[in-house]
Amino acid sequence: MADRQRTGGWSGAIAKLPRWLWSCLAGGSWKLALGRLLLAAAVFGLGALLFVSAGLVPVAASQGHWPITRVLLHFAMRRSVRTHALAVKPPPAEDQLLDTEAMVLKGAGHYAGGCLACHGAPGHPRAEVMLHSVPQPPYLPPKIAEWNDRELFWIVRHGIKYTAMPAWPTQQRDDEVRAMVAFLRRLPGMTPARFRQLAYGGATPGVDGSRVAGAIPSTRATPAPSTLADCARCHGVDGEGRGGAVPRLAGQREAYLLESLRAYARGDRHSGIMQPVAAALDDAAMAALARHYAGLDIRPAAPVDAHPDAAAIERGARLATRGDAAGRVPACVACHDTGTGPGTADRNPHYPLLAGQHPDYLRLQLTLFNSGTRGGSAYAPIMHTVAGSLEPGDIRDLSAFFASRPTAPKTPER
Ligand code: HEC
Ligand code: HEC
Ligand code: HEC
Repeated sequence: MADRQRTGGWSGAIAKLPRWLWSCLAGGSWKLALGRLLLAAAVFGLGALLFVSAGLVPVAASQGHWPITRVLLHFAMRRSVRTHALAVKPPPAEDQLLDTEAMVLKGAGHYAGGCLACHGAPGHPRAEVMLHSVPQPPYLPPKIAEWNDRELFWIVRHGIKYTAMPAWPTQQRDDEVRAMVAFLRRLPGMTPARFRQLAYGGATPGVDGSRVAGAIPSTRATPAPSTLADCARCHGVDGEGRGGAVPRLAGQREAYLLESLRAYARGDRHSGIMQPVAAALDDAAMAALARHYAGLDIRPAAPVDAHPDAAAIERGARLATRGDAAGRVPACVACHDTGTGPGTADRNPHYPLLAGQHPDYLRLQLTLFNSGTRGGSAYAPIMHTVAGSLEPGDIRDLSAFFASRPTAPKTPER
């Protein structure tokens, strides 16, 4: 009997609760109302804290999101990307590399190593494990049209919090992010064969020895076939840089190649593309790779007079051999060979050969040195001083000149 009375009393009180709450909150002066509002917020906050501390927030990926959570999170993500992307600056006017085949190829190379497992690609399904994550990384080709270039740039550069979508490995290389955007733009409608050609140079991953030979480790003398196959995706089997998308390594100085790989691995030389590659190598593998590429024969560069911009080459030659009259730019030949002539073997082995290197790559590196974003070995600060006062025109002409130089006969490393 007493029990029933108590329950009746409870249900009566509960029924009156909303009216009581309302009168508590809204009655009295505005100061009292504000105080009560703050109290209510504090009680709510405490409740939420208790809910979280008690471990009641559902985080199981196996359960997925409630539909309402999924819609809200997606809406928030899209709105955030669209708003933040408004601040993305267009590429500098002198950057004519945008959307060229070389940019697309460079983006594709990184996509195969850094994005494919999560997002898949034409002819390549997403990795099975990623299909069980929440949110699931989408298969990208049909998604690209939903974003403009700035938005894609923002997503690739910054990544998306609370999802597995990572930021670009370095925040210093907008040019690399633009290469990825150029590739993503071409992704819708791309055939599997075209993707394979771009990302793997036509080889089939796993069939070219990359998986099968994975068990054979590098020694200081020989790189592991699987590692070499991965480098070849971007630098070409011959180390010539696949037509200029990435630097030519063939015939480069061994000490310079080794120090460059170490600099990428340490994060001293910034590249979202090369840093993850180098960080996965141990010192023996780096040494073997440096030796391998230094020992490859170099293909002769195109003869000077066949080059379309002879005037630029002429100006570049003057600047490289004599520096400029005002003493603003030192003569490059004090440290870099022009490809022929005496003194070729006497340079510091840490100073790279530039003769026959791809002009767009030289231009990019000089631009990066000029803005202070190109790190490197302990010798790199020399180049910051050298390049600090170069004008865009100087950079173009110097790059054209060194690229046009015939490559020197190989000399033994000391
Ligand atoms: C570890 C997995 C993972 C990797 C690696 C990854 N992503 Fe993502 N990415 C995601 C997830 C998860 C989302 C979905 C985010 C969402 O739904 O809010 C996403 C979203 C995106 C989107 C937006 C797609 C859309 O319309 O929702 C783009 C574009 C994208 N990623 C590009 C890339 C590129 C380019 C790379 C390589 C540089 C990359 N991602 C690497 C997991 C990954
Ligand atoms: C996904 C494409 C890609 C792969 C794979 C790749 N590279 Fe690179 N590599 C690049 C790009 C792009 C650059 C230029 C980066 C920069 O701007 O600093 C580069 C630069 C380099 C440099 C510096 C060259 C110079 O003249 O300063 C070395 C050395 C190098 N790579 C070695 C390797 C080796 C060894 C491998 C294999 C273990 C490899 N790369 C795999 C794309 C790649
Ligand atoms: C005092 C010596 C010195 C002088 C003078 C010099 N350089 Fe360099 N340069 C270096 C060194 C050292 C490096 C390697 C930095 C590193 O990555 O560790 C380098 C690297 C470079 C690279 C990058 C090559 C690559 O494969 O990534 C370019 C391009 C270059 N120099 C161009 C020039 C030009 C053009 C001039 C003349 C205007 C010049 N350098 C003058 C010492 C010099």
